Amino acid sequence: MKSTTEQDTGLPLDMVIFGGMGDLAMRKLLPALYSAFLHGNLPASTRIISTGRQEFNREAYLAHVSEHSRTFIPKDNFDDKTWDGFLHLLEYVRLDVQQAPDFGALAAASRPGAQRVYYLSTAPSLFTTICEKLAAAGLVDEHSRVVLEKPLGHDLASAIEINEAVGKHFAESQIYRIDHYLGKETVQNLMVLRFGNSILEPLWRAPNISSVQITVAEEVGVGSRAGFYDGTGAMRDMVQNHLLQLLCIVAMEPPTSLSPDAVRDEKLKVLRSLRRPTLADIARDTVRGQYVQGVSGNQEVPGYHEEKNVPEDSKTETFVALRTFIDTWRWSKVPFYLRTGKRMARRSSKIVIEFANPPFPLFPDMPGGVANRLVMELQPEEAIKLQIMAKQPGSGMQMQQVALNLDLQSAFQQRRAEAYERLLVDVVRGRLTHFMRRDELEAAWEWADPIIAGWQTLNEKPHPYAAGSWGPAEAFTLLARDGFHWVE
Ligand code: BG6
Repeated sequence: MKSTTEQDTGLPLDMVIFGGMGDLAMRKLLPALYSAFLHGNLPASTRIISTGRQEFNREAYLAHVSEHSRTFIPKDNFDDKTWDGFLHLLEYVRLDVQQAPDFGALAAASRPGAQRVYYLSTAPSLFTTICEKLAAAGLVDEHSRVVLEKPLGHDLASAIEINEAVGKHFAESQIYRIDHYLGKETVQNLMVLRFGNSILEPLWRAPNISSVQITVAEEVGVGSRAGFYDGTGAMRDMVQNHLLQLLCIVAMEPPTSLSPDAVRDEKLKVLRSLRRPTLADIARDTVRGQYVQGVSGNQEVPGYHEEKNVPEDSKTETFVALRTFIDTWRWSKVPFYLRTGKRMARRSSKIVIEFANPPFPLFPDMPGGVANRLVMELQPEEAIKLQIMAKQPGSGMQMQQVALNLDLQSAFQQRRAEAYERLLVDVVRGRLTHFMRRDELEAAWEWADPIIAGWQTLNEKPHPYAAGSWGPAEAFTLLARDGFHWVE
């Protein structure tokens, strides 16, 4: 099948959302599409067709969207008249993805000759049947695109199965495997910082860099998602995808262009160079945690075991910290520390690059620890800071760490689109660079699967940590034994 990565096919656009009544559609997809519409980033011909199993007529669906989705649009990005215009784009088709005849209703709702973009925001176990039935109903052609929401499988075998099945009906260039972290402004900025400047690149390697930390800390608990989360855990939910993608962008070699394959080739090399840990490495270099009752946001909150739908004896990890290495010339012996968890002290995602200290301690009062760090904060606020040593004013040579603060908020007054909005606009325009290719996804599972299997062999309970803390003590020891500490 021919590639359809041109910017604009010139065809009317039908965006079809499977799982159109779901949480993701209400919280993220529809608000992102509304915002793209508000800012003129959707073609005028766009129609959005939501599908779901509920019996709804169009009016009832629009009322549902107004009640459940509108609240997720920030007030300063909301306009009544535009909202009404946006609702005009929406259609609802009742459809059970297991029932082939129901796809006839979708075919009837979709305009002949339209470019169809399918967003599969359902359980991944349904991806195969959806793609098969779309193709059987004649709803897939060379202009169609399909967006696959994570989790893409549960392990390597299931990911391969899904990729094979989807690949029977869509060419790789028509498949958009979404990882919304790749749509975050700071993550995209990291590419510019690295490859749009020449001052950092010569330093961006061993031995100039002594360690890299990537933290994605969430304040929220598992909420109402235990049904999904308990069979998944933090490794599959966050590390295998979001954290590894961040690691790839930090560690990749400069691509030869910004074409999707050039960028993804480099990310793939990183994934393939991740060290495969032995069981002893897993026992030493990984920490699993599970939150227990504590205080979060000034409120007493229950532990994971007390959350609704969590089995009493659940050993699912809600926290992971680990040390890994990338076995290449550039990163030889540089530890990469990854950490993510739910119910941590606060929402905070950051990448910290620690540079090697000066080789000779010229200043007697040089404070211990790491002199230079590049800290990229992804959320809740975006910030890029370079921490350097400076002399404190006065007669002595007292030193102190100060931050060169790249204030992007005031440098750029423009609105920052939310990750889903940016990525949905990329899909509409046929830009694949910030989506995962099949081999990347499978390489990420190839690394994660043996670690998960190792945990099963070790059969240890996750370490408890109080909700509202920075995770179990063992996660601190992991860095301390190498002479580092987590930068909060
Ligand atoms: C999702 C995970 O992919 O990312 C969730 O399934 C997690 O468990 C979410 O809460 C975090 O995304 P963000 O953008 O809020 O950091």
